[in-house]
Amino acid sequence: MVIDDLDNENLYEIELNHPKHRLMAPGPTMVPERVKMAMLRSIRHHRSQYFAGLLEQVRDGLREIFRTDGDILIFTSSGTGMLEAAVQNFFSEGDRVLVVNTGHFGDRWVRICQAYGLTVRVLEVEWGRAVNPKLIEQRLSEEVGREIKGVFVTHTETSTGIENDIEEIGKIVRETDALFLVDTVSGLATSRYQMDEWGVDVSLSASQKGLMCPPGLGFAAVSEKAWMANRRATLPRFYFDLASAKDGMADFKTPWTPAISIIYGVHEAIKMILSEGLENVWERHNKLAMAMRAGITAMNLTLFSINHAPNVTVVNCPDGVTSKELRGKILERFGIYLADGQGRLKDRVFRIGHMGYVDKLDVIATLGALEVVLKDFGHIFDEGAGLREALDVIRG
Ligand SMILES: Cc1ncc(COP(=O)(O)O)c(C=O)c1O
Repeated sequence: MVIDDLDNENLYEIELNHPKHRLMAPGPTMVPERVKMAMLRSIRHHRSQYFAGLLEQVRDGLREIFRTDGDILIFTSSGTGMLEAAVQNFFSEGDRVLVVNTGHFGDRWVRICQAYGLTVRVLEVEWGRAVNPKLIEQRLSEEVGREIKGVFVTHTETSTGIENDIEEIGKIVRETDALFLVDTVSGLATSRYQMDEWGVDVSLSASQKGLMCPPGLGFAAVSEKAWMANRRATLPRFYFDLASAKDGMADFKTPWTPAISIIYGVHEAIKMILSEGLENVWERHNKLAMAMRAGITAMNLTLFSINHAPNVTVVNCPDGVTSKELRGKILERFGIYLADGQGRLKDRVFRIGHMGYVDKLDVIATLGALEVVLKDFGHIFDEGAGLREALDVIRG
């Protein structure tokens, strides 16, 4: 039987058979016990002193994680809402912008900018590769005299498994008047990110990836240069009015009733991240990604991407097996959930998320399960090689 991951009845049964569900998807991700416990606390009023104190700590923690001294704004939203907020709050109809499109989420930037009537120039990059920053420099110089108001980039492109070089791109964009806007929905707290040092003006993220919480909160980190643009920007906005959110944060208030329980969760998750140490968190992700890639390639499988992100591994499906079949079997036999390809990669690749609350054993478990299932599908490979190679990386 092939399990269709959209078939709720099947999923329900599988969950019962596998009480230990391993969510190895690139978001949402697994939530640690400590975070779950924190989210069970009683609901306090969001205008109370208690809540303001909590929000202050969350703001301070997020500043450390984004590596910024700028403003942090918190909304009840998924990551896409924050991408939309970034377009609404810093631009006016007709503004010329450059979107670097490295995959499904780059596409999303394009579609949001177009929906709001911006004049969108797109730098298309072959899926599976990071953008060459020099191409951005070239495009910006071609546009001289037709001012580009914003450059939009995705930090780690979760659909293709690549990471763009935000630091290098920042060096180029900071020489211009354009704002530099970065989607770090999957990158934050999984891969090195230094907003201020790298000259990023607006960073967007969400609770359900590196921050190890359920989906439900979105974050925007905003520089002074971006606030100057905000004063001139005329696109309509209401729920996501970042300037009024900034005013509210002066007293540690969110503009609307926030997802209070998830704020408790993020508060706890920040404590976990900072006590592990942000550098160590990045290093853990790097190492697990290297182990995963070593295991995958030793199993005679190929990786989709060239410039690897440390939080997701995108694998080409072996000949004759669809992503749905493979993922269905792994879920059925081992209770491990892997993600499908997105957009034009649907059913051609499968994506293994290793972001947030993941450790060595999650990687080993996933590779072990893959070995068993691949053998069942008749894939030819050196049995045991995947685990051996991964363990070598983990040991080293
Ligand atoms: C890089 C990236 N950008 C944006 C999003 C969209 O976030 P959400 O699904 O929370 O709206 C995702 C989620 O997968 C993502 O990985």
